[in-house]
Amino acid sequence: MAKKSIANTIKNKVSDAFYFGPKGIIGIDIGLSAIKMAEVLKQSDGSYKLNNYAVINLPEGTIIEDEIQKEDEILKALNAGLKELGSSNHFACIGLSGPNTLIKRLQLAGGSQEEIEDQVLWEAEQYLPFSIEEGNISFSLIGENKGGGVDVIIGAAKKSVVNAFKELVERSSVKVKIVDLCAAATINVFESVMGNQPQIQSKTWIIMDLGAQKTQFMIYKNGVMVFFKEISIGGLTITEEIQRQMGVNYNEAESLKIHGDGNGNIPEEIVEIINQVFDTFFAELKKTIDFWITSTSEETFDGCILTGGGAQIPGFSETLQDLLETEIQILNPFNTMAYNKNNISEDMINDIAYRGVCAIGLAMRSMPK
Ligand SMILES: Nc1ncnc2c1ncn2[C@@H]1O[C@H](COP(=O)(O)OP(=O)(O)OP(=O)(O)O)[C@@H](O)[C@H]1O
Ligand SMILES: [Mg+2]
Repeated sequence: MAKKSIANTIKNKVSDAFYFGPKGIIGIDIGLSAIKMAEVLKQSDGSYKLNNYAVINLPEGTIIEDEIQKEDEILKALNAGLKELGSSNHFACIGLSGPNTLIKRLQLAGGSQEEIEDQVLWEAEQYLPFSIEEGNISFSLIGENKGGGVDVIIGAAKKSVVNAFKELVERSSVKVKIVDLCAAATINVFESVMGNQPQIQSKTWIIMDLGAQKTQFMIYKNGVMVFFKEISIGGLTITEEIQRQMGVNYNEAESLKIHGDGNGNIPEEIVEIINQVFDTFFAELKKTIDFWITSTSEETFDGCILTGGGAQIPGFSETLQDLLETEIQILNPFNTMAYNKNNISEDMINDIAYRGVCAIGLAMRSMPK
């Protein structure tokens, strides 16, 4: 009974939480490397336009996994970001990720809506890294499974983490109306960019967000995300190895990794370090894919879509292409989305295309029916 009421509260809260004002909602993605903010407008023809965008870099160690380490730094960056964003909007949708969140497909016996809700709670309990009472859980139906039951995908986050982020963000000038998972926001953009291609609905895609502290690995099949895994390797893993092996600080290591010797050449030692991290990453990735293949007997992918700053690491796409033997594409929101040239300068577009997808997907959230 107690469990049931949690499910209902969560659902009602989610529905009540939405507000879609004339200018939409500000999407706020607090990543390890930076806070990114986006404001998206839905145009009369149904397409989206990025109206405002801001990115404020965070100092080293401001946030570790989903634990806020330096509140003041985040607050300072939030205030600076909102000022730069220049939006008159005061409502935000924030994104969560990390060890205190869960996205998982469950196979259930099925039945009435009420029975399915009960089954979700009982089944979810086995996988949640926290007790069911400590979490916010929502789910959506994927469809019937071969055993005559139903498959659902659940999204969950630990309440204390939701509250910590919400309270901190609300110490700036915005009110948090929606808390979502970053992976769901990435899928929003994926569907908006690729969704009008008929093959999307009938095929199997790998989608990866290569961030600083982690990589989010998703499988999207027949129009829904069916598998999710967070791999704790990202761009920071390379930066830290450069720091360790070359005796430089975080900023110097970041600069060596991204800009190389200043003339666009990445020194041999750095390439060597990148390759070492690649080896570990690709071994982890192979394990994840093998797990999917053994549990579903599905071996083929129709394409792989990348986002996140880490997707720019030289040689990454090529090595991945060899491993997966499938075409690799970048999830570029500007393939289908216009942007306001008065507010966003052209030299930011490349960085936004790689690193802004989560913030854009959060800003695209709209009021449920
Ligand atoms: N041109 C580039 N070449 C290589 N790496 C890059 C480049 N630009 C950014 N990166 C790396 O991308 C990472 C930042 O990407 P992103 O903004 O997607 O991560 P984040 O959202 O802050 O992290 P997370 O999601 O893990 O919390 C950093 O590790 C940064 O060094
Ligand atoms: Mg990120």
